Amino acid sequence: MKGRVLVVDDEKHQRDILHMILESEGYESVAARNGRHALQALRERPFDVVLTDLKMPDMSGIDLLSELLKAAPRLCVILMTAHGSIGSAVDAMRKGAFDYLTKPLERDELLVVLGKAMERSRLVRENEDLREQLRDRFRLENIVGAHGSMQDVFRIVHKVAPSTSTVLIYGESGTGKELVARAIHQESDRRQRPFYAVNVAALPEGVLEAELFGHEKGAFTGADAGKIGLFEQASGSTLFLDEVGDLKRDLQVKLLRTLQEREILRVGGRERVRVDVRIVAATNHDLDAAVREGRFREDLYYRLNVITIALPPLRERRTDIPLLVEHFVTKHGGSGRSRSVSPEALKVLVNYDWPGNVRELEAVIERSLLLSDGDAVLPGDLPPAVRAGITPRGRGTAVLDIPDSGIDLEGVERALIAKALEKTGGNVSRAARLLGLSRRTLQYRLEKMQGAPEGATAERKGAVEGDA
Ligand SMILES: Nc1ncnc2c1ncn2[C@@H]1O[C@H](COP(=O)(O)OP(=O)(O)OP(=O)(O)O)[C@@H](O)[C@H]1O
Ligand SMILES: [Mg+2]
Repeated sequence: MKGRVLVVDDEKHQRDILHMILESEGYESVAARNGRHALQALRERPFDVVLTDLKMPDMSGIDLLSELLKAAPRLCVILMTAHGSIGSAVDAMRKGAFDYLTKPLERDELLVVLGKAMERSRLVRENEDLREQLRDRFRLENIVGAHGSMQDVFRIVHKVAPSTSTVLIYGESGTGKELVARAIHQESDRRQRPFYAVNVAALPEGVLEAELFGHEKGAFTGADAGKIGLFEQASGSTLFLDEVGDLKRDLQVKLLRTLQEREILRVGGRERVRVDVRIVAATNHDLDAAVREGRFREDLYYRLNVITIALPPLRERRTDIPLLVEHFVTKHGGSGRSRSVSPEALKVLVNYDWPGNVRELEAVIERSLLLSDGDAVLPGDLPPAVRAGITPRGRGTAVLDIPDSGIDLEGVERALIAKALEKTGGNVSRAARLLGLSRRTLQYRLEKMQGAPEGATAERKGAVEGDA
């Protein structure tokens, strides 16, 4: 069987001829005498191609075309038009018909066009199957991301989750590091056990050590009872070490030993305890730099850095913003009312730079849904900074403020340049780096500053004020 064709024509004679030709060519054909029957037939079973007459009493071929495409957007529909109604044929093509044939039909022409339609239908189907497979494979619970970079992340997660390899997740704050860590656990065969997480940066060193490795009774004052640490609790499961870049040197050594030997020593204990923990670590710092500057042990870095997943900042995958918005509207929109974000507001959201990444976007959506009066969030419901596209991103810019009395911008620039030079002992290249300028630019500004007589800026400022 070459494919299934649905023939729609109000004339029995036409239906019979077509049926005969199609069957003799190895197609399976089903005939319908009007649009209603055709739609009914399509609901019952899929067809590769629909061949429909244009002029029919109750539903025209064009109307049927629209209905068919509503039900199956990629269906190949061929219209048969009487001689001289080319206008309608063109209209049909514009509305999404695959092709048209003029009556009386030529057997050869019919078969050529039908063959092409079958081929297209096959490609569409293959493509859909493929996409279906991809969707199933590269989808993680609760994680939204269609951008290529996120699809890469999903792919790596699927690949590495079943192993026990250590995974290091990089990403700015709010990019979803913890979400991905949880997904790795969920996709692994450790998913029956709970996921354990600890934020390394949040606890003082001593507390963290006891938290991770546990302690024996009497190990330190106040240790009235022994305590099982996270490494032991999470044995057989996954332990997420958040902000691992902030780990102090002493604990870096202990963590390294644990990773190497897969054993721990409780604080105050003597016996080493075997643990089988899958470590997923995350950091929003540049660990490379920390290693170079001696703040992070290189050997531990290599131990952790077996598999890395880099989560791109949201501003580098803006096409995901509409999807995330939809996701968060569903999540926070509440039941009952159907909530949405207006196209204008969505545009503002897509253009904003999101220094706090997905977490910030989620907070903005949640807040805007609460504040908006109507069903749809409008630009006016968004926070002013988002509307104005102002981002406090960038080193040191967030600490600046402008007093009501105003400032002298060139004076501030001069002061900052002087400060940078002071910090670097007069080294222009390093000062330029501190200021985020090229050496040449800084050199140029220095020359300009030196060339300008003292007080020149004040005079100019006075002139501007005088003009106003
Ligand atoms: N791709 C995503 N799809 C859906 N929700 C997301 C996505 N990325 C992040 N989120 C949501 O954004 C919030 C922040 O995510 P998460 O805590 O994983 O970020 P993080 O990288 O660990 O941030 P931080 O460095 O600040 O700890 C969470 O509420 C999470 O559910
Ligand atoms: Mg986090």
